[in-house]
Amino acid sequence: DSYKELNIKELPPGEVLQTSWNGELIFVRRLTPSEVTQSEAAKPSEILDKESKPFLSPATSQNSTILVCSAICTHLGCIPVPYLGAHKGWVCLCHGSVFDKYGRVRQGPAQRNLPGINNTEYDGILCIEE
Ligand code: FES
Repeated sequence: DSYKELNIKELPPGEVLQTSWNGELIFVRRLTPSEVTQSEAAKPSEILDKESKPFLSPATSQNSTILVCSAICTHLGCIPVPYLGAHKGWVCLCHGSVFDKYGRVRQGPAQRNLPGINNTEYDGILCIEE
């Protein structure tokens, strides 16, 4: 499989970068330590998509948690806008789906999380900071 190295040195904690990979638009979000803790506090009843889990991994040279996910809304394909909504994750303005900072759908009409993309050197995106 293919992977792409993505230098995220300039991406501050709490911010989102939009780029593309294999012709697909993707989001890369650098979570702050408190955002990681908040996300773990979600109740199971608040998670609509029980089947998919976000891909999270530390970047190579700094100890931050990085989310890499598709930038295509799982409802009908619009591009959700970051930092909006009750969870300050993303809101899709086409029909109002709300995603948290981990790309998990919290309010429909979308029923599936923003698909996670592996953050490894074997498949997907490898985030580097140098
Ligand atoms: Fe995103 Fe419909 S395309 S809510």
